[in-house]
Amino acid sequence: MLKVGIDIGGTKIAGGVVDEDGHIVEKLRVDTPVDTRELADAVVDMARHFGADHDISAVGVAAAGFVDRDRATVIHAPNIDWHDEPLKATIESRIDVPVIIENDANAAGWAEFRFGAGRDVEHMVMLTMGTGVGGAVVTDGQLFRGGHGIAGELGHTRFIRDGLPCGCGQNGCLEQYASGRALQRAANEIADAGGIGDELAALRAEKGSISGPAVSRLVLAGDPGATEALRRVATALGEACGGFQAVLDPQLFVIGGGVAQLGEELLAPVRMAYETSLPGYGERPVAAFAIAQLGNDAGLIGAADLASPQG
Ligand code: BGC
Ligand code: NA
Ligand code: ZN
Repeated sequence: MLKVGIDIGGTKIAGGVVDEDGHIVEKLRVDTPVDTRELADAVVDMARHFGADHDISAVGVAAAGFVDRDRATVIHAPNIDWHDEPLKATIESRIDVPVIIENDANAAGWAEFRFGAGRDVEHMVMLTMGTGVGGAVVTDGQLFRGGHGIAGELGHTRFIRDGLPCGCGQNGCLEQYASGRALQRAANEIADAGGIGDELAALRAEKGSISGPAVSRLVLAGDPGATEALRRVATALGEACGGFQAVLDPQLFVIGGGVAQLGEELLAPVRMAYETSLPGYGERPVAAFAIAQLGNDAGLIGAADLASPQG
C-alpha cells in the first residue's frame, strides 16, 4: 500500500510516495510559498502529481504548528501565518483520497521511532533544531498527543524567565535558545562582540549576516567563534533535556533538524549539559542521545506512515 507524505517546512515543501516499510518510491521538493493560499495549492499540486503515477490510499501532511486532536486544523503556528487553518478540509476537497494533518516534529519523531534511530526503544523523545524547536514524545510505543492534540511542544517550554520574545506569544521559550535560528543569532552576536572567531567576524563583515549552514561549516572547520555559538545552543538543549527526563523518562533522545547535521560535534556538548542538569544524576538510569537517521525525509515518511485510508 502506497501513501503520500508531504512535509511543509519553513523554506521547502518535501513530498514523497512512501511504502509500508518507510521507503520513498518517488520524491519532490519545491520552495515554500509565503502566501498560505499558494502554500495549500502547492501541497495539492504535489499530491495530484503523485496520484497520477501511483495508486495512493492516503495523504499525510506534516505542518509546523499546533494541530488539533482530529488531525485536521492547525490551531496556531509560531512561524507560519496560520490561525485555525482548516488544512485537512482545504486539501481533501481538492483530491480524492483521505488526508490527515500531523505536527511536523511528531511526524519526524514517529518516522525515527518506526524506521530510524528509535527502532529499538519504546520510550523516545525527538527534538528538531530548525527554524523552530520541534518535539515529539513516544511513550509505550505510542505517539503522545495529549488532551487537545498538542502535546510535545517541547520548544515552547520556558527556558529563561523574561527571555527573548517567541512566535508563540510568550517569551523565553527554549526555541529562542536552541533552534537553528538561535545558533545563527549566537554566531552573529559573537562576531559583533569580537575577541573570538576571526573567521566568523570576517564573514559577518563580508556578508552582513551569517547563515546557519555557514555557521555549521565553520564549526566543522574548528573556528572558535562558531564553536562557541554551537556550545551555547547545545547547552540550552541539553539542559532542557534534563528537565524532559524528569517528566518523561525516555530511553533515548533523537536530535534532528538542520543543526543535527553537525553530528557528534553537537551531541557531545548536549550530553554534557544534560548530565549535569539531570535530577539524581549518578544514581539513576540515563537516556542515550542519537542523531536522527532519516534526515530531511523523516517528516514526510512519518506523515505518510500516520496517514490512513480511513482518514
Ligand atoms: C512549532 C512546532 C513545530 C516546530 C518545528 C515550533 O515553533 O510550535 O509545532 O513542530 O516549531 O517546526
Ligand atoms: Na510535536
Ligand atoms: Zn514559544
